[in-house]
Amino acid sequence: MNIAIIGAGWVGVTTGAVLAFLGNKVKGYDVNSKLISRLIEGNLSFYEPHLPELVREQLQADRLQFTSELRTALSNADVVFIAVGTPVAADGQTVDMRFVGDAAYNVGLNLQPGRFQVIVTKSTVPVGTNGWIESYIEQGLEEQGLSGRVDYAVASNPEFLREGMAIADTLYPDRIIAGSGDERALKALAELYRPIVDQTFEPPSFSPRPPGFKRAPLVRVDPATAELIKYAANSFLATKIAFINEMANICDLVGANVKDVALGIGLDHRIGGAFLNAGVGWGGSCFSKDLVALVREAEVYAYTPQLLKAVLEQNRWQRLVAVRKLQDVLKTLRGRRIGILGLAFKPETDDLRSAPALDIIRRLNELGCVVRAYDPVAVPRCRETHPDMPVTYGESVMEIADGADALILVTEWQDFVNADWQAIKSLMRTPVVIDGRNALDKQRLEGMGFVYRGVGI
Ligand code: UGA
Repeated sequence: MNIAIIGAGWVGVTTGAVLAFLGNKVKGYDVNSKLISRLIEGNLSFYEPHLPELVREQLQADRLQFTSELRTALSNADVVFIAVGTPVAADGQTVDMRFVGDAAYNVGLNLQPGRFQVIVTKSTVPVGTNGWIESYIEQGLEEQGLSGRVDYAVASNPEFLREGMAIADTLYPDRIIAGSGDERALKALAELYRPIVDQTFEPPSFSPRPPGFKRAPLVRVDPATAELIKYAANSFLATKIAFINEMANICDLVGANVKDVALGIGLDHRIGGAFLNAGVGWGGSCFSKDLVALVREAEVYAYTPQLLKAVLEQNRWQRLVAVRKLQDVLKTLRGRRIGILGLAFKPETDDLRSAPALDIIRRLNELGCVVRAYDPVAVPRCRETHPDMPVTYGESVMEIADGADALILVTEWQDFVNADWQAIKSLMRTPVVIDGRNALDKQRLEGMGFVYRGVGI
């Protein structure tokens, strides 16, 4: 099929590259022409494993193109994806829908009669946005004098990609949600996703098919339900993490082990073992943003979602659990040299949005610590996006360990897990490790003479 993708960020580029890989002709468009020039050369502005290779391969095969001309992108498209950002608005509560509104209006300004087209929202948007998008498209069509003359339908197709796993999550999803009131739109989406649903493609070498993965169910729903499924999924995952973190804090008090608690409850198939790793709480651009937006949305209807509010509050508290543990071990923190291992909100990404490391660094600074940090990929982004962060950066774990009074592991990069901890200990002033992700081997480190504190273990 012919596909247009509006928005050349992480979701847009991943979706475009994978759909091209599956044999479609994809044109990616973005208002940011610098981004497009870089993409034409095969260069991405963010870190996602194997995506640059996939993009370059598809550019070479001429199945993927990038353009700064929206009309070029839309011409011949059977399906048009809107995959622009929906950041938190300036009030910190609502979703900033400007980019979606602009995209929809500009689609209306550039759609041409002659073929049926489906305009699909991939961006995470509040419930009811589909109708709102349609009204913007209509405004654009009216502006062109084409009102009522273009055959199109809108649909919602939320994404469930995890950063660092974007290609695998697109090729082997747990489910595909297609929301529309138009049967032709649902048919077009079913046709587009058939190779993924039936798993008929030859997997790329860097993303093999998971053993036993045979089918990805496609769930057809109405647009509002599709939009809410996205918010509900993220809210549930965030709740699961907040729950296990609460258990971890109780484990710390009563002397139980949260890893075993997670195992013990996770074996119950009704609960499931995934997303039960305790630590310094979730970060990333999605969970907080989506929970806050859903709370806000419910409050518009005079309903207070107590559970979601408690989950947000729990996570706020959890972020500084590592600092409290440090106070417990070192007592006075003023003047202490503290090393932070990991800045990104999770491994395999350089994304720092809502990253716990940033709150931890700020708090340590307030408490008078001298903070140094290292991350295998996120240091350049941290320098660029947080120039005032009270931290100096090192180029290796060893550099951070040298002369440190304590290390706090915030992101569980494999480099940290596999580091030479004996050598690290010999460099530190006092061998204290706060493992904010329960990623290190407690017994081994204690055997080496470290003072080790995990979260609930
Ligand atoms: C999340 C969802 O997992 C995706 O399904 C969704 O599509 C995406 O948001 C989105 O809305 O775009 P992502 O933010 O990339 O994906 O990251 P996750 O892997 O979900 O991790 C989020 C945070 O939770 C990280 O800080 C991670 O360290 C933390 N986490 C995760 C835990 O603390 N414990 C766990 O057991 C799992």
